[in-house]
Amino acid sequence: MKFSTFVTAGALAAAAAATTPKGLDDFSWDVEGYAKDNPVGGKVVGGKGGPTVTVTDYPSLATALAGSEPRVVKVIGAIKPEARVIVGSNKSLIGCKNSGSIYDKGVTVANATNVIIQNLKINDVVGNDAITISNSTRVWIDHNELTSDNNHGPDHYDGLIDIIRGSDYVTVSWNYLHDHWKTSLVGNEPTFTHELGKYHVTYHHNFWQRLGTRGPAGRFGFHHIYNNYYEDFYYQAIHSRSDNQALIEGNVFRGDTGEAVSTHGLVVPEDSPNFCVCGDDEKDGFANLGYRNDWGSATVNITKVGTFTKAPYRYKLTPLKFVAELVKLGAGIGKVDIDVIE
Ligand SMILES: *[C@@H]1O[C@H](CO)[C@@H](O)[C@H](O)[C@H]1NC(C)=O
Ligand SMILES: *[C@@H]1O[C@H](CO)[C@@H](O)[C@H](O)[C@H]1NC(C)=O
Ligand SMILES: *[C@@H]1O[C@H](CO)[C@@H](O)[C@H](O)[C@H]1NC(C)=O
Ligand SMILES: *[C@@H]1O[C@H](CO)[C@@H](O)[C@H](O)[C@H]1NC(C)=O
Repeated sequence: MKFSTFVTAGALAAAAAATTPKGLDDFSWDVEGYAKDNPVGGKVVGGKGGPTVTVTDYPSLATALAGSEPRVVKVIGAIKPEARVIVGSNKSLIGCKNSGSIYDKGVTVANATNVIIQNLKINDVVGNDAITISNSTRVWIDHNELTSDNNHGPDHYDGLIDIIRGSDYVTVSWNYLHDHWKTSLVGNEPTFTHELGKYHVTYHHNFWQRLGTRGPAGRFGFHHIYNNYYEDFYYQAIHSRSDNQALIEGNVFRGDTGEAVSTHGLVVPEDSPNFCVCGDDEKDGFANLGYRNDWGSATVNITKVGTFTKAPYRYKLTPLKFVAELVKLGAGIGKVDIDVIE
């Protein structure tokens, strides 16, 4: 799959030309990480090879995403679905240009494999996640804008991207995640120890802005978190708990950001713990630091260093000094020309 770029390509090329950073000359929008390199079917291709269906309302959206036949489903305009949008296997769900959005009800990828969600705005999903990935593999969440507001406490909305029921081989890239509380949780049950060793998730080049907690928070898995830009992540960004292994490199933290990384098992009071207002205690997680991070004024609390020291695939690290500029330019909707996805 190849992307031609419009808005951002020019800007990125200009940034690259002005500063000639190494590694940007052959910059690619293609999938990187676990949704590309995995032992359960290989590179995610979504609906490639199937027909393209354009939808403007919920009934046609639901029909187009049902079943496991390959389909590319393009959303034009804003849709307020009557129920959660369920995505079957072998689908690409793509917002058109700057217009495709879904609000009030979110999107669930459940019991599925090979799904791409791209260039879509999903906002203000009350009492549930913007995107839930449940019991699914090979999922690529790329170039979306996911948001609500911070005025209603942690539990009025739920997550922006929650990955549950042992879902595996997921890449979350170039998303603009902003103005929300509980951002991205991987593994939502501390008692589900049978999930240990699943949840291979790559998070790269996401723009996390004005968020509360879970940037991401994970249990039981392997999370490769690189080249993300965090700005005003108020309470706690990366939380590796319940034996989770995180490899954290080349990320930049700015603004009013409290804690960049913690492996301490405590689910902090700001993160809606279930059993005590003082927080819930779980086992600690692990973290390894690869290529240098820029923590800004945020704190780091690594209690256990793990064994996940190297990602098992090839990927391109953006030099630290270009991360903020690049991610702000490239993350979110309207940045890749989805009409020329091959
Ligand atoms: C689509 O997904 C299913 C898994 O649900 C898989 O078995 C099938 O081979 C895939 N491809 C097509 C063309 O249906
Ligand atoms: C996924 O599978 C589980 C277990 O079989 C089932 O309870 C659930 O309804 C399924 N979800 C969807 C969206 O099909
Ligand atoms: C996962 O999906 C498979 C079928 O695709 C189903 O048999 C299994 O029960 C599901 N597991 C969960 C936890 O939903
Ligand atoms: C690490 O986190 C725990 C739980 O939030 C806290 O009690 C402890 O003081 C922290 N340690 C450091 C060095 O920040």
